[in-house]
Amino acid sequence: MNNPYVPFPVRVDKIITEVDTKDIKSFRFVFVNPEDEQKFAYIPGQFGELSIYGKGESPIGIASSPTQKGYVEFTVQKAGVVTSALHEMEEGALMGIRGPLGNSWPLEFLKGKNIVVVGGGFAFTTLRSLIIYMLDEKNRKDFGNITCIYGARTPGLLLYKNELEAWGKRDDINLHVTVDKADSSWKGREGFVPAVCKEVAPSNENAVAVICGPPIMIRFTLPVFFDLNFSKENILTSLEMRMKCGIGKCGRCNVGNKYVCKDGPVFSLAELDNLTKEY
Ligand SMILES: Cc1cc2nc3c(=O)[nH]c(=O)nc-3n(C[C@H](O)[C@H](O)[C@H](O)COP(=O)(O)OP(=O)(O)OC[C@H]3O[C@@H](n4cnc5c(N)ncnc54)[C@H](O)[C@@H]3O)c2cc1C
Ligand code: FES
Repeated sequence: MNNPYVPFPVRVDKIITEVDTKDIKSFRFVFVNPEDEQKFAYIPGQFGELSIYGKGESPIGIASSPTQKGYVEFTVQKAGVVTSALHEMEEGALMGIRGPLGNSWPLEFLKGKNIVVVGGGFAFTTLRSLIIYMLDEKNRKDFGNITCIYGARTPGLLLYKNELEAWGKRDDINLHVTVDKADSSWKGREGFVPAVCKEVAPSNENAVAVICGPPIMIRFTLPVFFDLNFSKENILTSLEMRMKCGIGKCGRCNVGNKYVCKDGPVFSLAELDNLTKEY
């Protein structure tokens, strides 16, 4: 039996600096032992514990999609001890990943539905995983209309710029990218995510909204979806809590009787209504 505390050894294959401020980078890892890629079989919405020898571990959402083979990607903001050490790593360096951990976006529930993806800031990572998964040739027919509303504070803070450009050219995803404050280089939309959601006004018919972003964005976006008559069962989000073990053993991440690491991080608003407001 595999020991869930032992990380899989991985090599940093590629590092992409995502934003002008250089404090958000995407890391592409390749498994040192190819058979470990099978053991790390994941679903969009899950996370991994990135492990750096002598520094510790950090829970980070998986930014790539399982439809992308041969590697796994994470997008990480430099915050403290572990994430700073990660940002100093170079391509070719060795480190570890534990996982996949947590539940996931509920793909079976989402199948056959129209999907409205709403993202803000760097919390867009696991939404990107879901979008790549849904747009995959083999999976696209399983989902209805896909609408994506994604915002960042400035154009220089938008993640995955090449992908956004490619998705913008497709006719099977309805993409609305916005920035809080435009600059002279920006030809796109300006405005806060909740305002854009109000303007786009996605239909609630057979639709599920998947929303991730900073707390303030969530606070102002939810009323828009309530006004559009989305039920709490059909609004999903992913919680971030302080974590240690990631597998429901240490009790660090509990909210009421749920462990965010094991029962989450994905919850519907209806489920969150039944929990104490510790998150
Ligand atoms: C399920 C999950 C998915 C996540 N996905 C991502 C992701 O895709 N990209 C990303 O950049 N970050 C993500 N995070 C947040 C990330 O785990 C923390 O920022 C990270 O643990 C900080 O580690 P550190 O050792 O560098 O910082 P530390 O030295 O531990 O702390 C630095 C600062 O960050 C704060 N902090 C530490 N852990 C958390 C946390 N879990 N939530 C909020 N604040 C924290 C501390 O209070 C402190 O102010 C995720 C967290 C969870 C629980
Ligand atoms: S992190 Fe240990 S129980 Fe969730």
